[in-house]
Amino acid sequence: MSTKNRLLSYLKEEKGNWISGELLSNKLAVSRAAIWKHVRKLKDEGYIIESSPKKGYLLSKVSTLLLVNEIEEGLDTEVFGKGKIVYFKELDSTNIKAKDLAGQGAPEGTVVVAEKQTRGKGRRGRSWFSPTGDGIYTSLILRPTMSPGGMPRITLMTAVAVAEALLSLTQLKIRIKWPNDVLVNGKKIAGILTEISTEMDGVDYIIVGLGLNVNTPSESFPEEVREIATSILIETGSEFSRALLIREYLKWYERYYEMFKNGRFEPIMRRWKELADIAGQRIVVDVLGEKYIGEVLDVDNDGVLILRDNAGNTHRIFSGDVTLMHP
Ligand code: BTN
Repeated sequence: MSTKNRLLSYLKEEKGNWISGELLSNKLAVSRAAIWKHVRKLKDEGYIIESSPKKGYLLSKVSTLLLVNEIEEGLDTEVFGKGKIVYFKELDSTNIKAKDLAGQGAPEGTVVVAEKQTRGKGRRGRSWFSPTGDGIYTSLILRPTMSPGGMPRITLMTAVAVAEALLSLTQLKIRIKWPNDVLVNGKKIAGILTEISTEMDGVDYIIVGLGLNVNTPSESFPEEVREIATSILIETGSEFSRALLIREYLKWYERYYEMFKNGRFEPIMRRWKELADIAGQRIVVDVLGEKYIGEVLDVDNDGVLILRDNAGNTHRIFSGDVTLMHP
């Protein structure tokens, strides 16, 4: 561990209490000037540290940035994020960065995180509102052995992992809207963008991008999405730790991905259905401008939506925008 990180763990152990500069310099075997230099760096990273010539240093608040340290602390996974978190203050898009890294050979379980995105991508060419510090913008690299036809399953599995993380940490009533929107009270709290790179004999890598609105106040959403988007802050009235949420998401992701890789998709699909209750609903699905109206018969084990239209014809729909029709 670097000197700065060791210093941080001492300060955290004694959070709220003063530790003398002398004690720290002895423990870390560096000069007091060096301690001061590292304290300054930590303050730049958003840690609130008081200092006094007599009393030394006191950590009063840990950084709210999504720093690697903060995510890794207590991270209960074996593959996802373990020594593989890449953090950026600003990126065009975490999916674009993850693709670059995957192209350069980054391993499965690599997690790209950004504090802000300047070109956050949504599904179907839309953009994803990604202001500094308010949300989680993250992309995972997967390297499953499968054919590209397995993609819809990855998408459904991701929505389940996001929903589980939110359900275990909050009291929110989380629902999934096919294929992969995560909703609270009918409004979108998270979106997922999966992208694939294939080779002759199958998948090279998959990028799973997640945008989750955490501490976004209603008024800061752009007007065109204000009515349809929500955040944890809006729903609960309180801010929430983004680091804790990412950790929980990675934990659930690893759990479900393991099942997926072992060919056990049924329990994932069952859970998805519990969280989505879509069967029997009357919906309109927009598939690249073409509209299908009818009743949902099922979502099959490949994640494909089966719709019976008003004329009684059955359609298998791989991806599209769903609007529920209320009777
Ligand atoms: C959607 O349209 O619902 C999908 C939104 C996905 C947004 C996330 S934010 C992190 C990752 N990087 C991107 O550029 N997009 C995804």
